[in-house]
Amino acid sequence: MSNKRIVSGMRPTGKLHLGHFHGVLSNWLELQKSYECFFFAADWHSLTTEYANTDGIKDSINEMVLDWLAFGIDPEQSVIFEQSKVPQHAELNLILGMITPVSWLERNPTYKEMQENLSTKDLSTFGFLGYPVLMASDIIVYKSAKVPVGQDQVPHLEITREIARRFNYLYGEVFPEPQALLTETPKVLGLDGRKMSKSYNNAIFLSDDAETTRKKVLSMVTDTQRVYKKDPGEPDRCVAFALHSLYVPQEKRDEIVVGCRSAELGCVDCKKILAQCMIDTLAPFRAKREELASKPGVVDEVLTEGSRKAEVVAKETMNEVRAALKV
Ligand code: TRP
Repeated sequence: MSNKRIVSGMRPTGKLHLGHFHGVLSNWLELQKSYECFFFAADWHSLTTEYANTDGIKDSINEMVLDWLAFGIDPEQSVIFEQSKVPQHAELNLILGMITPVSWLERNPTYKEMQENLSTKDLSTFGFLGYPVLMASDIIVYKSAKVPVGQDQVPHLEITREIARRFNYLYGEVFPEPQALLTETPKVLGLDGRKMSKSYNNAIFLSDDAETTRKKVLSMVTDTQRVYKKDPGEPDRCVAFALHSLYVPQEKRDEIVVGCRSAELGCVDCKKILAQCMIDTLAPFRAKREELASKPGVVDEVLTEGSRKAEVVAKETMNEVRAALKV
């Protein structure tokens, strides 16, 4: 059974946006059908950068898990839990820390990059350096065979494999070496044409209401070389058109391409079509989310139950780890 097991976590950053949906969540929904999935809120990982400001974390978990549930991550099919409620992650993290050479962590490309990008924060901590060790613990404590992650997480997963291998070499075969499950995901651009991200303030959230969605879509950058409506445009250069392919039916899209290139269709009208298709597609999920959000305690209940289930599995692994370690 454990070779059909999948583990994946998201750092709680609050409400999810379209980038999260098309990049990660839609993939989770697919995997949920055929694997035993463990999905969790990586709140301890949030501490690596947010240790000085922990006030928002609980709320962020709540918003994020509401999105998971509304979009179909199902507690009947998957184990949905909170990292900090399963202490075995920390226990294994401590042990793996003993066998992980510091040089592996220092040469991790994400380490230096993040330290440079988040230069306003003091990230010269033990915990930040050890981020991949905690991530390795998250994964192998469930003996997961596969981990769906984005390209940016591949170096972390490589460290996970190295750590698992080293443990097995030192103490005997306990852990499978988990494989990255890289799925092709569309790159979702934000309103301004940069990668969609909450911190760039260019995101359309899954939970935005219809009016907010419309306003945001209408403010999107299009083909910057099309200055006047009478100028012919090029959909391949258009930031908004990347979203058309996700929300507007093929037939309509073909019409749009013709209208844009012949300058018959203006950008505002074109974006109105996109906004409406997006609103219609998202409407049932948004309604479900509102319904879930109106019942207090839904997320807490799911996480408590899921964390209990996760702990059962994690405890078994830790028994094996203690036996192998003889400590
Ligand atoms: N590092 C991941 C991210 O930043 C989150 C994460 C933590 C994770 N632990 C994990 C992902 C284990 C997959 C498996 O997105």
